Amino acid sequence: MIRIGVIGYGYWGPNIVRNLYSVDGCQVAAVCDQSPTALERVSKAYPGLPVTANPADLLTSAEIDAIAVVTPVCTHFELAKAALANGKHVFIEKPFTSTTQQADELIELAERKKLKIMVDHTFLFTGAVRKIRELLDDGVLGDLYYYDSTRVNLGLFQHDISVIWDLAPHDLAIMDFLIQKTPEAVSATGGAHFNGLVDVAFITIYFPGNTIAHINVNWLSPVKVRTTLIGGEKKMLVWNDVEADEKVKVYDKGVQMNNGHGLYELLVSYRAGDMWAPRVEQAEALKVELNHFVECVTKGHTPFNDGAAGLRVVKLLEAADRSLKERGRAVQL
Ligand SMILES: NC(=O)c1ccc[n+]([C@@H]2O[C@H](COP(=O)([O-])OP(=O)(O)OC[C@H]3O[C@@H](n4cnc5c(N)ncnc54)[C@H](O)[C@@H]3O)[C@@H](O)[C@H]2O)c1
Repeated sequence: MIRIGVIGYGYWGPNIVRNLYSVDGCQVAAVCDQSPTALERVSKAYPGLPVTANPADLLTSAEIDAIAVVTPVCTHFELAKAALANGKHVFIEKPFTSTTQQADELIELAERKKLKIMVDHTFLFTGAVRKIRELLDDGVLGDLYYYDSTRVNLGLFQHDISVIWDLAPHDLAIMDFLIQKTPEAVSATGGAHFNGLVDVAFITIYFPGNTIAHINVNWLSPVKVRTTLIGGEKKMLVWNDVEADEKVKVYDKGVQMNNGHGLYELLVSYRAGDMWAPRVEQAEALKVELNHFVECVTKGHTPFNDGAAGLRVVKLLEAADRSLKERGRAVQL
């Protein structure tokens, strides 16, 4: 039985606690939040569950095997470092850390202490992303041309991080999981219209072999859009995450070009075949993910969304920030 202490019970923390209650092989040992109101909410929802305002009570407890860090990103490093230093496995929110240096340090500490780090890249555990990965693995889409994601809505404005650090980690983690190539360069543009933090951003990521990814994140959109287009040599797909059913649609569409004899004899033919919507698992992603965490800790396996996966995302976020300051100059990785 893995005993887990949860630090942070704001917006996302309740989802972690609720799902942990439904995962076999683990037990929520205690919840910590510096806000008394948050602790009142815990006690109301889970009478008898120990609560504390002091993270050290969890971090140093001999009764706890793992810590879930569900606090703002600026606190991730110190809390995770203390957890690892005290011999606890770590489940930590996205983005993993505020800098690549911090991520490197945590990975090194976990390796030295033989502990697991799992970064909450929740979308990797959704039925849609797992289905898309399956289609790629089975060669249904063929070689990838592009990945193009739009993740926009009105707010929620964060007081400490830009829209890039808030929303893009989702897309960068999904892209990292699906494309499985090492990015070569990042270019980002965007704007800050209120509090100095970028609220609209366009990020382009260049991969070897002419694969390109584009991510549009925006807190100033009148409507919520969660749409990803993936173009492959053989098939193309649209993943619309706000759709209740048929989230993923695969299109047998494509382009073929044949050169004629002269310069102006390029022959372009367009293929427009069938569209189908593969069945997508409906299970709650966070539950599947927390199950994976408990299994990895119990069996000594390394999660695929480990510290290294978290670091790859932070590296892209840092590069995007650098590029944005120079109005989109491509930053080589
Ligand atoms: N995986 C996802 O889909 C997803 C979704 C939302 C948020 N998140 C991530 O979850 C984390 C928390 O986000 P949120 O929206 O819940 O934030 P939030 O501000 O709503 O909640 C954070 C909570 O942490 C508490 N806290 C802060 N510092 C603390 C400390 N040092 N010790 C104890 N408690 C502390 C605060 O009092 C607050 O209750 C962020 O890293 C965010 O990126 C992930």
